Amino acid sequence: MRYIISYVSTQIRELDPSEVVHILHETETRNDKFGVNGLLVYSEGNFFEVIEGEMEKIKDLYRHILKDERHKDVILLFQKEIHKPLFDEKDSHFISENTLYRKMEIEHFNECIQDLDQQTRGMVNQMLRVMGMQASAGDVD
Ligand SMILES: Cc1cc2nc3c(=O)[nH]c(=O)nc-3n(C[C@H](O)[C@H](O)[C@H](O)COP(=O)(O)O)c2cc1C
Repeated sequence: MRYIISYVSTQIRELDPSEVVHILHETETRNDKFGVNGLLVYSEGNFFEVIEGEMEKIKDLYRHILKDERHKDVILLFQKEIHKPLFDEKDSHFISENTLYRKMEIEHFNECIQDLDQQTRGMVNQMLRVMGMQASAGDVD
């Protein structure tokens, strides 16, 4: 059974850019290795992550993430079973506020989550807006 979990959290202290890059790279490498896909966004001290993969693996990973001392105030946004994989193999996206390719990555991510129900997609889009990764309807260029 495939499973998806999403949460937001806050860095425990001011992280310098190299520490953020380290978390993003560590996550990317481990997720590729363990068949986990999704999106990790960092912006202004907050993290937003969506992880998708085999159910036991995802639940276990989330337990590890909860214990990670680099962040706090982890708020679970949703967790649910899904009926087929949302992403292509090794389709992970790791984005920080300075990443230049983020627009393309976000567009691709949005295409991948089309099969999720409307409410869940709405929540993801809301979070992406809060994290400054997606324009709001009222935004002016
Ligand atoms: C915000 C944040 C997101 C993380 N996301 C992942 C992730 O998606 N996959 C992963 O393997 N580790 C992720 N980690 C790292 C894990 O919390 C943990 O360090 C890693 O799984 C190794 O766990 P272990 O040292 O208990 O074996 C994340 C850490 C932080 C702070």
